[in-house]
Amino acid sequence: MRIFIVHAHPEPKSFNGALTRTAQEALSASGHEVVVSDLYAMGFNPVSDRRNFTTTLDVNFYRQQAEEANAAVHDGFAPDIQVEMDKLFRCDVLILQFPLWWFGLPAILKGWVDRVFASGGRIYGGGKWYDRGVFAGKRAMCSVTIGGPPPIYSSRGLNGPIAEILFPINHGMLYFVGFTVIEPFLVHAPARIGDDERRIFLDRYRERVLSLAHAPTIAYPKLAEFDDMHVLKST
Ligand SMILES: Cc1cc2nc3c(=O)[nH]c(=O)nc-3n(C[C@H](O)[C@H](O)[C@H](O)COP(=O)(O)O)c2cc1C
Repeated sequence: MRIFIVHAHPEPKSFNGALTRTAQEALSASGHEVVVSDLYAMGFNPVSDRRNFTTTLDVNFYRQQAEEANAAVHDGFAPDIQVEMDKLFRCDVLILQFPLWWFGLPAILKGWVDRVFASGGRIYGGGKWYDRGVFAGKRAMCSVTIGGPPPIYSSRGLNGPIAEILFPINHGMLYFVGFTVIEPFLVHAPARIGDDERRIFLDRYRERVLSLAHAPTIAYPKLAEFDDMHVLKST
């Protein structure tokens, strides 16, 4: 399999760094192809604006989705975006590796999504979304470290269920563009765990990445289950 890891952490010695190294080593040793975009190390620019393009549709008014559609037709994406798109198209499985920051993605990774998941049919649009999306048939997974312990992210916990916090990413980004979404790999409170527990988590992650092809997925409804107003049909 071809695995593409988008890694968003500024410190290589962090738990996130250890998770990505574990995945890289385990997958490569098993004969898989692994490509890592280490966004901080690359100095990836997360700011989405006219620099996304080598083409221009309208010099007077910047409409990002219109510029994306134009760039899709005229091969006008900036090289730093095109190279990430190429990695997406090549992969069988995408992994987003990140620490939970403010209940969401670190800005550098949100910016990667803002810039690389372009509309106009290249990554989504023109009827290509959800299970009819461009990446239908590929899998994706979030591997997330979380500052707080599990109870605070339980259904009655103060922060609310982690599945709901990750919904905008799992559903709104990954499933939106067609990926089948694997249940996330979660490490809670890595700063508070000892070396033994750390090793257990890394071993579990090694097992998870070696079973990406059949790891359990989140069962989101399919487009055929919705009516013309995109509301679930009554049964
Ligand atoms: C800017 C920032 C925002 C954070 N937001 C959250 C948050 O919303 N929820 C949470 O549980 N932890 C939050 N944390 C803690 C991180 O999730 C935690 O430090 C990280 O997952 C630990 O992994 P690491 O050792 O690889 O950095 C935040 C940390 C930072 C720096």
